[in-house]
Amino acid sequence: RKAVSLPGLIAQRGQGNKITMLTCYDASFAALMDRCGVEILLVGDSLGMVSQGHSSTLPVTVAEIAYHTASVARGNKSALLVADMPFGSYGTPEAAFNNAVTLMQAGAQMVKLEGGAWLAPTIQFLTERAIPVCAHLGLTPQSVHQLGGYKVQGKTAEAAELLKKDALILQAAGATLLVLEAIPSVLGKQVTDLLLIPTIGIGAGPDCSGQVLVMHDLLGVFPGRKAKFVKNFMEGHSSIDAAVLAYVAAVKDLSFPAPEHCF
Ligand code: KIV
Ligand code: NA
Repeated sequence: RKAVSLPGLIAQRGQGNKITMLTCYDASFAALMDRCGVEILLVGDSLGMVSQGHSSTLPVTVAEIAYHTASVARGNKSALLVADMPFGSYGTPEAAFNNAVTLMQAGAQMVKLEGGAWLAPTIQFLTERAIPVCAHLGLTPQSVHQLGGYKVQGKTAEAAELLKKDALILQAAGATLLVLEAIPSVLGKQVTDLLLIPTIGIGAGPDCSGQVLVMHDLLGVFPGRKAKFVKNFMEGHSSIDAAVLAYVAAVKDLSFPAPEHCF
């Protein structure tokens, strides 16, 4: 296939062709996901939990994300490669730029950061310097200690309004993708309808422009607590290729996420 690009993803959103994204941490899985047609590979800081065994994403470093990004880049041919900026790596626009350069030089084509309106100057600073930015709202796991746990966000009318305001501010600052995590499906739809850029949901309902899952959840190998939005696609399939193809097909034909995966 042709290389996946950000303009291509915006066109895809316009066509109503759902975007598929998975986390990926190494070259072999990158090659597999790429040949299965996954459009975006995310080197998520979730690697701190699923790969390193930490109880949060906070211990993950820029050097670790860069190491995994370089591995994924070697295995990938045509998917868009997004790297998470880990906890503490984007406290100021200048720090964010220096750390994002490390990740881009490791092979990332876009970086993702967690947070609301306070990130607007940072997103503007990065995008003006040729670093595409994916924003991340709702349940932002790096804020687990402030949020008091991994909880559904945007449930009150006030919180929903704030999230919508944040989404518009981040888009205006230059973000070209937005991950929405663990929010009510109605809010996922409202935010998607408000924006021109694609939204990628994880526990944000079926109306986002696309979906993302952590690969260990899709394969049913994460031993920790299973979030409501998780589906084990190995069930009913006898190979990892078949499970990833089933995920891609289910996102495209709107059968995933089903109501039982939504808030
Ligand atoms: O780190 C991660 O896996 C993520 C996704 C859940 C969006 O940020
Ligand atoms: Na992440």
